[in-house]
Amino acid sequence: MTQNFDFTVNGKPVSVALDNEETPLLNVLRNELGLMGTRFGCGLEQCGCCTVLIDGQPEKSCSKPVWSVAGKTVTTIEGLGTRARPHPLQQAFIDEQAGQCGYCLAGILISAKALLARNPSPTRAEIAQALDDNICRCGSHNRIMRAVEKAAAQIRAGAQ
Ligand code: FES
Ligand code: FES
Repeated sequence: MTQNFDFTVNGKPVSVALDNEETPLLNVLRNELGLMGTRFGCGLEQCGCCTVLIDGQPEKSCSKPVWSVAGKTVTTIEGLGTRARPHPLQQAFIDEQAGQCGYCLAGILISAKALLARNPSPTRAEIAQALDDNICRCGSHNRIMRAVEKAAAQIRAGAQ
């Protein structure tokens, strides 16, 4: 039976009609809402590239059934910033060239955003811990850490 699932994505209310309430949020974002920035990697909660914010908390959307986000607020990479007005994290990742293939970066940026919201001055160890669930197969970890530190400093200085 088709059901409607209502929630908020990147500040906008959405209503999605689906036959299967167990459909993963990731599939809904990509296939129903056309938000292709969130990536499918393992599908097993192991790689972190599907990470989105749900009510401000980083969660893996590949294994989150759509019923569980009804009434909640979801933020994807498309909700962080725009090409013309990037979020300080996005700008710092560009400045530091903090990626190679880029496949992991949407999830890493979302996890980093959650970190800086709860801890504006993270240490390197705290950044590493916050990104522990996000795998980067290209091995860009050092540049990613530098970029998060740079964004944190810029946000503390007033960047938005
Ligand atoms: S695709 Fe979700 S954790 Fe890998
Ligand atoms: S930049 Fe390629 S997986 Fe991270």
